Amino acid sequence: MGVIARYRDRLPVGPKTPELSLGEGSTPLIRSTRVGDALGVELWFKFEGMNPTGSFKDRGMAVAVAKAVEDGATGIVCASTGNTAASASAYAAHAGLTAVVLCPAGGVAAAKVAQSRAVGARFLEVRGSFDDALRSCQELAGRGDFALVNSVNPFRIEGQKTAAFEIDEELGRAPDVLALPYGGGGNTTAYAKGFAEDGVRPRMVCAQAAKRATTLASAIRIVEPAHAQEVGALVGEGTAEVVTVSDEDITRMWLEVAGEGLFCEPASAAGLAALAQVDLVPGTTVVCVLTGHGLKDTAAVDVLTAAATIVDPTVEAILAEVSR
Ligand code: F0G
Repeated sequence: MGVIARYRDRLPVGPKTPELSLGEGSTPLIRSTRVGDALGVELWFKFEGMNPTGSFKDRGMAVAVAKAVEDGATGIVCASTGNTAASASAYAAHAGLTAVVLCPAGGVAAAKVAQSRAVGARFLEVRGSFDDALRSCQELAGRGDFALVNSVNPFRIEGQKTAAFEIDEELGRAPDVLALPYGGGGNTTAYAKGFAEDGVRPRMVCAQAAKRATTLASAIRIVEPAHAQEVGALVGEGTAEVVTVSDEDITRMWLEVAGEGLFCEPASAAGLAALAQVDLVPGTTVVCVLTGHGLKDTAAVDVLTAAATIVDPTVEAILAEVSR
């Protein structure tokens, strides 16, 4: 069951909204086997990489594209560092709409480009940053033919808030702390809304890359967060804190998460890197959102881990190598 069907009564959908779904949502909440102990807390990973296109974007995209169909749009447009593009392309294809996606040239992980191209999106690389691409998308959408499906579209936030509902339902209560990466801040805004609608207010730890323009976590290469105001308001009211993490912190925590058998993309480890920097009350319940699947960015694995060794297909050669 997708998010529209599962949370129909908590989303701004009506009888005329198509129940568009690729099976998004209902992602696993997995108990950490080691990192949580090291941090002294009960740590859970919300593995959003298990969504149909491999990232949390699918929750919001199901709702945003369904509403675009309801409103009579024939096409959608978005700017992206890759995951929004993959998601928008897939949902548009499923709904029979044209998708125009704009990504920073050379700045997107190869698998994400492949996901968009495979389903027939008009994939364009712009000479410029994500922020430049978003500006041009907003202008294009303003002309009327294409619905903008970046997270400035409120239906994206509506869909993404369902992850907070799932966490509260599965734990039987709200977590004490939620940690997640902070790129444009759409997801932070969405979780805050979801928790607020559940009547709870966990502490939110939002991880931003120290070098926003060039971080190895290409998914969060955003210099001007579209939701900076909303995130600032959450900080002001004491709900959220923004923690700056270096690429070295992200890398180290990516290896820790992978070491537990959970393969996420580098940006997804930012939340954990932030948790390692803040004071946590021992024994409290902490949920860390792993926003995207590791298969999205296998080039990062080449950078972060040792390459495979080549051996002869003999037991002696294999044992000699593994006993090193
Ligand atoms: N993690 C991943 C894997 C992402 O792809 C993104 C954003 C974020 C975290 C940050 O989320 O922007 O809501 O604060 N990716 C966008 C994209 C920019 O185009 O795919 P945010």
